[in-house]
Amino acid sequence: MVQTLTNEQLTDLAAQYSTPLYVYNADVIKHQYEKLTGAFSGQNCRFFYACKALTNLHILRYVKQLGAGIDCSSINEVHLALKADFLPQNILYTSNGIDFAEIETAVTLGVNVNIDSLSNLDKFGHKYGANYPIGLRLRPNILAGGNLKISTGHDKSKFGIPVDQLQPLLEIINRHNLQVRGLHIHTGSEIKDVGVFTEGIDVLLNLVHHFKHLAFIDLGGGFKVPYKPGDGETDMDLLAKTVSISFAQYAAATGKQFEIWFEPGKYLVSASGYFLAKVNVLKPTAAAHFVSLNTGFNHLIRPMFYDSYHHIKNISNPLGPMHDYAVVGNICETDTFAWERPLNEVRENDLLVFFNAGAYGYEMSSNFNSRYKPAEVMVNEGAPKLIRRRQNFDDLLTEICLD
Ligand code: LLP
Repeated sequence: MVQTLTNEQLTDLAAQYSTPLYVYNADVIKHQYEKLTGAFSGQNCRFFYACKALTNLHILRYVKQLGAGIDCSSINEVHLALKADFLPQNILYTSNGIDFAEIETAVTLGVNVNIDSLSNLDKFGHKYGANYPIGLRLRPNILAGGNLKISTGHDKSKFGIPVDQLQPLLEIINRHNLQVRGLHIHTGSEIKDVGVFTEGIDVLLNLVHHFKHLAFIDLGGGFKVPYKPGDGETDMDLLAKTVSISFAQYAAATGKQFEIWFEPGKYLVSASGYFLAKVNVLKPTAAAHFVSLNTGFNHLIRPMFYDSYHHIKNISNPLGPMHDYAVVGNICETDTFAWERPLNEVRENDLLVFFNAGAYGYEMSSNFNSRYKPAEVMVNEGAPKLIRRRQNFDDLLTEICLD
């Protein structure tokens, strides 16, 4: 079983690197990767880490040496992936509403490209025709995911080519003799219900006979990880079994087999991450007992943006009596991490830990209120390493055009 970092280790890291601080336990990433590949062992699957969750170059290198490919959502993520030494054939660029010039760059770099609009597909056809195989990102019109903001496959979503536009899609493909090697869907994030994946597979398998050159079916990412104590997660063994049965039945009926691709983000890195913050100020009021931290939604936006729950512990006083607190940030705007949250008695200067901070934590941070972005530390087999220094005042000025 993978070791979680202890209160003592986290307290030492906070003392050494100061706070606010992101800490990633690489052993957890490895454990999650092995859980995933173990569940699908024996199946013809490839896993591309959806690096938008956490792009620190050291994390990318670590994920690469585990054996994963990488899924990118911007050309800069593709450049980062190349910098982390991923081979172009192991890089997937799942584009969304991007300028065609980025697709041209991706082709020059030789990476796999999933195209998500008829407009870019037509431009692609004009320029490359049959010369460069592609994948298509489709919108299956399935509502899935933890909340509407992270649902991407439903019939009002901007993502993908709607499956109800099959006719114009086929016209473009035929007109340019496009080599469609893959069909892709990503219906949302935090999908616990395995049935959603089966639904997606059914939608795709009903379409595959329209595409002569298909080699892979890409089911995207979106596996649920537990955030709250007692929360469930996607049952990976059940998912693997379900996927295997669906594709085996299809192969038996048609003789056709496909590689199956996945793009896990949260599943690989969420639980590896801890976000450490110090208590600046206590403010008891009639409505709530506020705990103000030396951070805010500029560093961890998920609670304010998605109403996401992050488990929080006061590791400076683990045996103190429990009280309810409103845990808030120091940003000059309403900035609530948790309301009526039971914590061991909190004192000023105590160290609080946010769990599940590996995915979309640092990655969605900003310089709002001109505060510095935090530092990042990776712990590999117990050994910590600073993988991104904290910003300083000069960083706030680097992009300014000074006279
Ligand atoms: N593939 C594609 C095409 C995606 O758009 C995404 C995530 C993934 C894979 C990985 O999804 P995951 O396995 O991480 O759920 N910022 C939000 C999550 C947005 C996900 C966007 N796309 C959050 O913090 O909950």
